[in-house]
Amino acid sequence: MDRNLLIEKAYEGMKNAYSPYSGFQVGAAILADSGKIYTGCNIESCSYTPTSCAERTALYKAVSEGERHFTAIAVVSSGGADGDYTAPCGVCRQMLYEFCGDDLIVILAKSKEDHLQTTLGQLLPMGFGPSQLGKEK
Ligand code: THU
Repeated sequence: MDRNLLIEKAYEGMKNAYSPYSGFQVGAAILADSGKIYTGCNIESCSYTPTSCAERTALYKAVSEGERHFTAIAVVSSGGADGDYTAPCGVCRQMLYEFCGDDLIVILAKSKEDHLQTTLGQLLPMGFGPSQLGKEK
C-alpha cells in the first residue's frame, strides 16, 4: 500500500468538496483490493441531514463500481478547530465496517509528513457487522 499516494488522492478528492454550510472541506481516498483508488469529498445539503461525508462518498463510488473489499482509506480535511486529525464520524465507521471489518487501515493525515495510522477495529471496537446476521462480508 502506497500511503503517500493514498494521502495525495484524498487531497485530490477534497478539491471537489461541496460544503457551503460548514465551510469545512474533507477528502477521502479508499484503496480497493482490485488496486483501484476511489476518491470522495463531503457533499452537504441545505437541510443538513442528507449530507454525505467524504468517506462514504468514496466508499459508495467504489461499491457502485462493483468493489466489495478494501485495504485502506486516507482522510484529510481543511483543518479542525485546533488542527486535529479528522477521523471518520460514527455513521462512516459503521458503513466502512459493512465492507471492511476490523483490519481496514485508516490513515488520518494533516499532510503527507504528518499522519496517524490506525485501524477500523480500533476506531469501532466490537463493531456490528454482516457476520452477526450470518452474512458474508
Ligand atoms: N465530515 C466528513 O466529510 N468526514 C468526517 O470524517 C467528518 C465530517 C464532513 C461532514 C460535513 O460536511 C462537515 O464535514 C462538517 O461536519
